[in-house]
Amino acid sequence: MTVMDEISQEDRAPQAPGHPRILSLANQKGGVGKTTTAINLGTALAAIGERVLVVDLDPQGNASTGLGIDRRNRSCSTYDVLIGEAPLRDAVVATAVPRLHIAASTMDLSGLELELGTTPGRAFRLRDAIAGLNNNVSPDNDYTYVLIDCPPSLNLLTVNAMAASDAILVPLQCEFFALEGLSQLLQTVEQVRSTLNPSLSIHGIVLTMFDSRNNLSNQVVADVRQFMGAKVYNTMIPRNVRISEAPSYGKPVLVYDLKCVGSEAYLKLATEVIQRERELRTH
Ligand SMILES: Nc1ncnc2c1ncn2[C@@H]1O[C@H](COP(=O)(O)OP(=O)(O)OP(=O)(O)O)[C@@H](O)[C@H]1O
Ligand SMILES: [Mg+2]
Repeated sequence: MTVMDEISQEDRAPQAPGHPRILSLANQKGGVGKTTTAINLGTALAAIGERVLVVDLDPQGNASTGLGIDRRNRSCSTYDVLIGEAPLRDAVVATAVPRLHIAASTMDLSGLELELGTTPGRAFRLRDAIAGLNNNVSPDNDYTYVLIDCPPSLNLLTVNAMAASDAILVPLQCEFFALEGLSQLLQTVEQVRSTLNPSLSIHGIVLTMFDSRNNLSNQVVADVRQFMGAKVYNTMIPRNVRISEAPSYGKPVLVYDLKCVGSEAYLKLATEVIQRERELRTH
């Protein structure tokens, strides 16, 4: 039985108005660009004026490391928040990027599913934590976007992310098995929508590590566009060595090398995401 089957019968409450847009980066496949996209889409959104919180929901903590958060600076983490020992605000730390903050993660998070056991409401821990994030007292400090970096698994952490989200962004790597596993992911999104979060949607699919000189890459793009149609963003993230170097300096690629093709692509993606947000709102 999957986590979803077990918790599908839990109660649900509507989300408070005026909350930030909450987007999850999800794909149970490992190494497809979830974290890279969380960091750099977050940075790009912040660069164009949004106030962004990245929530690191992966025990690996790659988003936290990639944004330069030292392990010693994680005394309060997303684990403490989900276990119910701290409000989300307490886990938030600033990054070197103005308007971009992060709630960092630690390895403890990998034990959360076992620790919570069958506690009622365990799928809504993150949603409830985010509901208390913006105080609306000083709206200028409220977040406009929350980006959740999911682990490579369809476990309780990812289900928490989906239950808390307005929409899912799916990074797909331009490689032979790109579409494999996508139907399982879409099925999980559908299950969460029908049980835990009726307003959940797929924001879009972002093709990552695209290499135009590689025929296979081009073929994958054609297949994914045929299969998923308009859900696929026009912007593709190229394979770019600067993108892969940046995390070892604890910097988003936009800070490490603003002029490289990887940075340009993430800025374009941010523009497209905002455009889609406008369209979603008017529908
Ligand atoms: N466009 C790109 N060009 C070159 N390297 C990239 C690109 N995107 C991601 N990478 C590299 O590929 C690796 C995997 O990326 P990333 O960590 O973002 O994937 P992930 O889906 O978050 O992985 P996991 O499932 O382990 O959490 C990293 O080493 C990253 O630096
Ligand atoms: Mg990751």
